[in-house]
Amino acid sequence: MPKPSVYVTRLIPQESIDALREQFDVEVNLEDRALSRDELKEKVRGRAAVVSLLTDRIDGEILDAAGPQCKIVANYAVGYNNFDLAAATRRGVILTNTPGVLDDATATHTITLLLAVARRIAEADKYVRDGKWQGWAPMFFIGLDVDHRTLGIAGLGRIGKNVARKARGFDMKILYNDVQRDEAFEAESGARFVDKDTLLREADFLTLHVPLLPETHHYIGAAELKKMKKTAVLINASRGPVVDEKALVQALREKWIFGAGLDVFENEPALEPGLTDLDNAIVVPHVASATPGTRIAMGEIAVGNILKVLNGQPPDTCVNPEVLGK
Ligand code: DGY
Repeated sequence: MPKPSVYVTRLIPQESIDALREQFDVEVNLEDRALSRDELKEKVRGRAAVVSLLTDRIDGEILDAAGPQCKIVANYAVGYNNFDLAAATRRGVILTNTPGVLDDATATHTITLLLAVARRIAEADKYVRDGKWQGWAPMFFIGLDVDHRTLGIAGLGRIGKNVARKARGFDMKILYNDVQRDEAFEAESGARFVDKDTLLREADFLTLHVPLLPETHHYIGAAELKKMKKTAVLINASRGPVVDEKALVQALREKWIFGAGLDVFENEPALEPGLTDLDNAIVVPHVASATPGTRIAMGEIAVGNILKVLNGQPPDTCVNPEVLGK
């Protein structure tokens, strides 16, 4: 009997590909680029499973192109806003993500961006490289105090909590907003639940960890940016469309806030015109989870889910559990 066929839409750690190859016939997109929609439709045809990326929109059209033998699409990401959950559930296709294993890397990256914006690291580095530095001066490259300041967290999921724990190392006061309160976490961490308005007004540093949903699209827009302190910093390592990037460029240009650290963008890889001209923005290319250990662990989860499903077991991290009859 031929082995089930698995398609991997882009190169992932070799360990994961090797694990798939032990049981399946595996094809990997070895080109270092995302597939076009037509290429994706063509490549998924006849597969029993697909490993997808957050850049692959997986909807009814793609699943129909794959065919009824397709049992699972495993996202190589914790976020899964690229999935049409209802379309997959209707077709009986299991969808999975990689939660848990990128919390530390993403939270560390969030703190890195926060510190880098506060202490103007990118701007200062460029200044030295440009040969402009004349020597030490007392009133030169003054940034922001971080220790003992207030950190606002929008979205207190696993990553938001991890950021809060790391920020306690700077003795930061933690405020958070979420769709629900977590009193156990409040007791553990000293974090205080506040409404969104208070979060915006009181945070010295505001970091976003909400999932991208219709309700969180442009969670931060012009109105929200105007409520923030002039000395505040916005960090986004969640999903780009959570922030109205046009409004953010205006806010940074007109100094409504001190600065922003962005790992994600509204129309990746395109950036809002003007963003890269701003010294008070640090922009990095969606790399919060880019550590070797994290990327290997993401692969283990994605592959583990495929191994389970194609061997007749439920996956560990299903995002459309209705499909399992739960
Ligand atoms: C995710 O996993 O959702 C990140 O955005 C990329 O690792």
